[in-house]
Amino acid sequence: MVEVVKQIGQTDLHVAPLGIGTWQWGDTQFWGYGKGYDVDDVITAFWSSINAGITFFDTAEVYGSGRSERFLGKLACSTETKVVVATKFAPLPWRLSAQDIHRAIDASLQRLGVQQIDLYQIHWPFTLMNIPTLMNALADAAAAGKIHAIGVSNFNAAQLKQAHEVLNRCGVTLASNQVQYSLLARAPEVNGVRDTCRELGITLIAYSPLAMGLLTGKYKMNVMPSGARRYTPRFQTKHLEVVEPVLNLLRDIGSGHGNKTPAQVALNWLIQQDVLPIPGAKNARQAQQNAGALGWTLTEAEIQTLDETTAPWQRPSSVSR
Ligand SMILES: NC(=O)c1ccc[n+]([C@@H]2O[C@H](COP(=O)([O-])OP(=O)(O)OC[C@H]3O[C@@H](n4cnc5c(N)ncnc54)[C@H](OP(=O)(O)O)[C@@H]3O)[C@@H](O)[C@H]2O)c1
Repeated sequence: MVEVVKQIGQTDLHVAPLGIGTWQWGDTQFWGYGKGYDVDDVITAFWSSINAGITFFDTAEVYGSGRSERFLGKLACSTETKVVVATKFAPLPWRLSAQDIHRAIDASLQRLGVQQIDLYQIHWPFTLMNIPTLMNALADAAAAGKIHAIGVSNFNAAQLKQAHEVLNRCGVTLASNQVQYSLLARAPEVNGVRDTCRELGITLIAYSPLAMGLLTGKYKMNVMPSGARRYTPRFQTKHLEVVEPVLNLLRDIGSGHGNKTPAQVALNWLIQQDVLPIPGAKNARQAQQNAGALGWTLTEAEIQTLDETTAPWQRPSSVSR
């Protein structure tokens, strides 16, 4: 049985073993904010999560061009509950120095309306800035009190080790690495990322834990998501066909646990891997349903069957994107 409260890395941040992603909150381009869901849905998604005991919210400066951070900042300060906010620095090609990181932190602080960011992450490792430059800038920001904990995202095992070492020399720990991880994207188990996180005491935060909605079981050949998502490899016919047995297994297993949905089973499997999943939710119904992944446990035998059935998705391949 996995702990009820999860510590993020070696920090003093403790959260439920499930968070929520907020890329959807204000993003029109990929998620279609404004078409089918709007600000009222975002507000009720927030409150449903808080009421379910979920306090870890993941955003980024690029989500909805800052709108997600602004929504989250306003909502987080409207509750007495201590909300843990994680946001991210986008190392865009024209951002070349530590000064760019400090400016981005100040802008995020302003949009979030806080004095300090709980967890500040580097969104991806592809940048002309090297890892020491990135990490030293974050250590300086932590020393200045602008960020509480430091995380990275999409870092491979070697990059993680280097980031951890640089921070260690500054007397700071690396708290988390956020990577794509789900039953249909299991590369972190075989590419060294999960092992390195465990070895160094870094929390693995699992993004796209529902394979962008596919693991809810609602999409099929003739029921496709709107927008850019439908053109990604995971929503192509060939992939939908091979995913069908996985969805049937999730339905089967869920029915043995009081009619848990495929999404709840998929999230419970991740929680049992001792990682922190952050499913995105567009509205209260999705947030409530995802919170139903908490408070029960898959059996060892069910976990083993899920492991075996989804073994082909351990291979890093285009279907995970
Ligand atoms: N660090 C990175 O590079 C990175 C990359 C991607 C994501 N992220 C973070 O991870 C979070 C989650 O990943 P994600 O948003 O890509 O994918 P996800 O969590 O796998 O899927 C989210 C989508 O699935 C659908 N959904 C969620 N719960 C549902 C439910 N209970 N019933 C039915 N449909 C449901 C919704 O879309 P529809 O209703 O439209 O189907 C929702 O927008 C993001 O919000 C973001 O914070 C980080």
